[in-house]
Amino acid sequence: MIERILFVCLGNICRSPSAEAVLRAKAAARGLSLDIDSAGTGDWHLGEPPYGPMQAAARARGYDLSGLRARRVGAADFDRFDLILAMDADNRADLARLAPAGARARLAMFTDYLPDGEAGAVPDPYYTRDFDGTLDLVERASDGLLDVLER
Ligand code: 4NP
Repeated sequence: MIERILFVCLGNICRSPSAEAVLRAKAAARGLSLDIDSAGTGDWHLGEPPYGPMQAAARARGYDLSGLRARRVGAADFDRFDLILAMDADNRADLARLAPAGARARLAMFTDYLPDGEAGAVPDPYYTRDFDGTLDLVERASDGLLDVLER
């Protein structure tokens, strides 16, 4: 059974903290109890709150990211979580390199939970500046993930 879910992006200040907050809100709305966290593969922003423009876009949709702090994903996360969801192919490749032999967690792409062919990655809004586009994908993939978990 999947109860512990970790979202992973590059900086842990845009995509993965957004996914953490969105999935937490949507799971609570469905009455599902999940342990949800996020982390980054990079170390540039350790200890920092999510990026200001990302926080503002999320806040406009009712998601409060202000209490989250960036951390780096580590080998122990592969034992702590049931499912680790990468935002893009680079994140996934970095995670596959980090995974200890015999790791418990299943590694997948967050976009696997979108309707077929809709997107193969959540583009990085730190570079695209499309914070709302990121939230659209994150909300839709979260709905898809919860549909699978409830099945
Ligand atoms: P994220 O976006 O991976 O969605 O958190 C990024 C934010 C910052 C950087 C890279 C990605 N950076 O290199 O500073």
